Amino acid sequence: MELAQRLQRIPPYPFREIAALKSKMIAEGKEPIDFGIGDPDMPTPGFVIDALYEAANDPETHPYDESGFGIPEYKEAVASFAKRRFGVDVDPDGEIQSCIGSKEALVHIIWAYIDPSDVVLVPDPAYSVYKVQTTWCGGAPFPMPLTMDNGFLPDLDAIPRSVAKAAKLMFLNYPNNPTGAVAPLEYYEKAVAFAKEYELLIVNDCAYSEVAYDGYTPCSILQVDGAKDVAIEMHSLSKTFNMTGWRVGWAMGGAEYVEALSKCKSNVDSGTFMAIQRAAIGALNRFEEWVPEMQGEYQARRDALIDGLNSLGWELEKPKAAFYVWLPVPPGYTSESFATALLRDCMVLAIPGAVYGEFGEGFVRMSLTLKGDDKVGQIQQAIANMKANLDLSW
Ligand SMILES: Cc1ncc(COP(=O)(O)O)c(C=O)c1O
Repeated sequence: MELAQRLQRIPPYPFREIAALKSKMIAEGKEPIDFGIGDPDMPTPGFVIDALYEAANDPETHPYDESGFGIPEYKEAVASFAKRRFGVDVDPDGEIQSCIGSKEALVHIIWAYIDPSDVVLVPDPAYSVYKVQTTWCGGAPFPMPLTMDNGFLPDLDAIPRSVAKAAKLMFLNYPNNPTGAVAPLEYYEKAVAFAKEYELLIVNDCAYSEVAYDGYTPCSILQVDGAKDVAIEMHSLSKTFNMTGWRVGWAMGGAEYVEALSKCKSNVDSGTFMAIQRAAIGALNRFEEWVPEMQGEYQARRDALIDGLNSLGWELEKPKAAFYVWLPVPPGYTSESFATALLRDCMVLAIPGAVYGEFGEGFVRMSLTLKGDDKVGQIQQAIANMKANLDLSW
């Protein structure tokens, strides 16, 4: 059966191919040190599992969530988190929508607003969903380059006026996947002013808002006065609480945009399992005690990887947030050839930066999430393999 044209227009989901390559190596008895997919390797905290157990034993959680936006207690817990964490007031009644992970919300906000030919401003490199779903809807993604020179923050002044005027949506994502960059509040202030001038909606992807180091606290775009007029922000429990498989998150922002998302969702899915929403309340309520432990674990790995790479000749700063190292490839390599050399000669799996867009060329992404025991030991082994087997002529 021939696929629909819209599905033919998009490439396969990139990680499916990388996962297949890894499986092939394992079948051949060669298990690489896997810095590939950014999927937390630690278990969900016990107190969240306990909350799920209790909730799942209550038959009231078993039917459809007919509330549409999420159960009131979940939206209250989200509003309380937003106040405690970012100091922002979000109305549980109309400004919050529970989501089946933030990916689902990112997809549906595009379906809510984008018609064929509509322009969407998309960072490049970026998480694939923004561009792919825009294309899927027949829209026109316009790349905003993230480069070392601009600190991996889109240069809003470089966007042609005609493009900015035509654009309906702009995606931002900080802490950033794949570059590990962060956005200061002043950047969000500028972005909100830009969105007001050109009458577009900012979708701020905050999936990594709690994965941060050295006491740095990433901000929310909603901390900018008047941001709700032009912004919706996507959050997730996936990375914060090691809950990627649970599929739970939320959108918060201007009521008009939350309503549009809700209309879209209500015609596609039937909400998040209510027991999972209750477990998510258990997670958010104990956020303050849990998060330092999670951050400390990744920080130790970040330090081991950056210190090791710098000992090989790189001059990298330590990323302040997210669990990615965005590594410039040494002279003479492309992102693809360097990732291949890492895998073939060093048993190190990293993702070629070009997977994330044209401006990802010249980099590979290394995720600090690692399966197996002794993560720091694995990182040190990877560095030793690179030292022994790579020709690094700087
Ligand atoms: C930038 C970014 N946004 C959103 C997501 C989606 O996360 P989830 O759907 O698990 O909340 C991911 C997952 O890797 C991501 O990297």
